[in-house]
Amino acid sequence: MAKKSTKSVFTCQACGYQTPKWMGKCLECGKWDTLVEETVRAPDRGGRIMSLPGEDAARPVAIDSVETIGEERIFTGISEFDRVLGGGVVMGSMVLIGGDPGIGKSTLMLQALYGLSRENRRVLYVSGEESVRQLSMRSRRIGTDSDCLMVVSEIDLESILAMVAELKPSVLVVDSIQTMFNSDLTSAPGSVSQVREATLRLMLMAKKTGLPVFIIGHVTKEGAIAGPRLLEHMVDTVLYFEGDRNYIYRVLRAVKNRFGSTNEIGVFEMTETGLGEIVNPSAVFLTERSDNTAGSIVTCAMEGTRPILVEMQALTSSTSFGTPRRTILGLDHNRVALLAAVMEKKLGMHLIGHDIFMNVAGGVKVDEPAADLGIVAAVASSFLDRPVHAHTVILGEVGLTGEIRGVSQIDARVAESKKMGFTRCILPQSSLEQSRTDSRMTLLGVSSVDEAMEVMF
Ligand code: TYD
Ligand code: MG
Repeated sequence: MAKKSTKSVFTCQACGYQTPKWMGKCLECGKWDTLVEETVRAPDRGGRIMSLPGEDAARPVAIDSVETIGEERIFTGISEFDRVLGGGVVMGSMVLIGGDPGIGKSTLMLQALYGLSRENRRVLYVSGEESVRQLSMRSRRIGTDSDCLMVVSEIDLESILAMVAELKPSVLVVDSIQTMFNSDLTSAPGSVSQVREATLRLMLMAKKTGLPVFIIGHVTKEGAIAGPRLLEHMVDTVLYFEGDRNYIYRVLRAVKNRFGSTNEIGVFEMTETGLGEIVNPSAVFLTERSDNTAGSIVTCAMEGTRPILVEMQALTSSTSFGTPRRTILGLDHNRVALLAAVMEKKLGMHLIGHDIFMNVAGGVKVDEPAADLGIVAAVASSFLDRPVHAHTVILGEVGLTGEIRGVSQIDARVAESKKMGFTRCILPQSSLEQSRTDSRMTLLGVSSVDEAMEVMF
């Protein structure tokens, strides 16, 4: 039984499905011509990922007898980054950072590593994409030179693991997982098997030695991290670095986090000298807003624990063809269609004969029912060609019968609005009753869309 066997499998490069026989179409995801032959040597390590070196196979223990040392964390010093991680880097954790090419993943990780290398911690940056010279040129430019930050250009997984064993860094970054190569497999770097194997081997090491590992992953055109979904299941934390390359703003978003809340975001701006933190995103997203314009309103969205004010814009114009168009950026298309139907029915606005275009300024995405009333207000304001009162923030979820439902964390939202110089807030009646009243802010509670229309203009 101890004999090592070599076998050949066909792996779908789109979804990771494996079959012993070649097929033109993947049975799992239905894509054509994605199966590639790979030779695999059966791995000789058992399922002992979690046991420590020198220990035999793991044995069940009573949960209350486990000695917890408390989650040990170290900090990058970039507060936006630390917060998204759930309060610093957890020892032995494995973090996947995904994002489009050129968005700034390598820059972000270089800066984070530099932060971690303070206090004389030795850290290692492995790049399979750039030469050491390129890395050092970039590092000079963004001011992350340090004698504790080691860089190497390498794609061979065995050599990297050997390097780590010798150097014993406190943190490891692998840029990118798609360039890693394991000679046990015949397929090319970037193929599903290579990516999966590299991730597994690195994770094994992270869990055994307590070394935090960051892996950078490319994102496919469809927006998923290239390689199997499995990758996302394997790691502890998945962060996406996103943003429109036409804007300088970048958002780091936690999609999965075993050590903290998802929904947390960190906001950065790309400058000539690397990424800068944006501590007050509301101010940034509202800078170019002009008061008293029809179709523009401000709402307050919660991103994790943090309230952010955003401007939503709507434009309505009469339909020139039969079916009205709904072109929506940054908001849920179905949500807008649903709210347009409520407005048609409850407010008697003839939107069926109008195209609706909506946008959230600054390339931000808002995905929260609390923005409903804001959407209604923006569309109504453009439709009626009447600006909403100046310095007003609009909050509330809208139901199908036109009722306004309460929103969460009302005090945080009102406080942020006040901080940004707003003086009026239209909010659900039920939330008003829950909130601690604030004398310097006019709070207008409404319980239906008709009522909201009355106080809006
Ligand atoms: P990079 O970190 O290489 O992106 P990724 O690793 O995600 O592919 O960053 C690429 C872009 O960032 C590049 O087009 C130039 C820009 N950039 C700056 O504007 N300022 C800087 O200081 C740096 C380092 C990059
Ligand atoms: Mg890069």
